[in-house]
Amino acid sequence: MLQLDRDAKTLGGIVAGTIPAAKLAETTRSIAQGARESVTAFEPAVPGGRSKPEVWSNHAEFLSDMSAFARHAEDMAKAGESGNVSQVTNLMIDALPCKQCHDKYRMPKPS
Ligand code: HEC
Repeated sequence: MLQLDRDAKTLGGIVAGTIPAAKLAETTRSIAQGARESVTAFEPAVPGGRSKPEVWSNHAEFLSDMSAFARHAEDMAKAGESGNVSQVTNLMIDALPCKQCHDKYRMPKPS
């Protein structure tokens, strides 16, 4: 999800007007791809890393959250292709559920 992190920051910059909107389509497309790949990456239950045990004990629900993320990111990528920054801004909340999911399913950084 490291690429997702970079793309989400770039998109934040585009929406804030500090990064040229010309990057909108490629950035939203890359987020949609990263979301799709995350669904695939988490399909096999491989406990470890910073995934909370709930990722695997609530695996169906977790994958359903991840799939919803992928669907919304795909909608946002379509809006991104048309270069419509305000439409992308409207779709961003659903398309970037990063923090909600991390709060629920990711362990805090080891100190
Ligand atoms: C449906 C749940 C879910 C969503 C949505 C989600 N993540 Fe994650 N993410 C996780 C989990 C679980 C881990 C911990 C993986 C591990 O350590 O094994 C993780 C790990 C990460 C990491 C640590 C590095 C890595 O690749 O494991 C980064 C960075 C990250 N996510 C960024 C994002 C960003 C940015 C978004 C939104 C665009 C996002 N994530 C959306 C569940 C999610």
